[in-house]
Amino acid sequence: MEKTFLMVKPDGVQRNLIGDITARFERKGFKLAGAKLMAIPTELAEEHYGEHKEKPFFGELVDFITSGPVFAMVWEGEDVIATARTMMGATKPAEAAPGTIRGDYGVTVGKNVIHGSDSKESAEREIGLFFDEKELVDYEKDS
Ligand code: CMP
Repeated sequence: MEKTFLMVKPDGVQRNLIGDITARFERKGFKLAGAKLMAIPTELAEEHYGEHKEKPFFGELVDFITSGPVFAMVWEGEDVIATARTMMGATKPAEAAPGTIRGDYGVTVGKNVIHGSDSKESAEREIGLFFDEKELVDYEKDS
């Protein structure tokens, strides 16, 4: 079954949005395979955001994601990668539809509450960066 990597960013943790965000994915019917509250080391942040290395906002991006704890998660289900992106809403909060996570809570393009993998390749890469195989739980779930 498909898996994706989702992360409540430091602004979402500070604003007590972990419960709301995890509840949305639970209610949708996806299965939580792993989760942890963690501080991201700078080297991990730089590797995670490696594709943005040349962008002018790279330093800001790394500073922000390491500024406080994040809540890292792995969710599982049919088409979970694309569905989670739809539930998150557009990267820029002003373009994110009401009812989506960023549409409801996002304030700026940098402080946009949640990160989610954008493809199968990035999901595999990001899950591998943030989780050991033994931290992921395989179990049966009815719905
Ligand atoms: P995320 O999905 O975590 O992946 C890359 C991030 O870059 C994106 O969310 C945004 O938060 C961030 N980002 C994109 N454009 C900008 C920008 N102009 N300034 C700061 N951060 C940005």
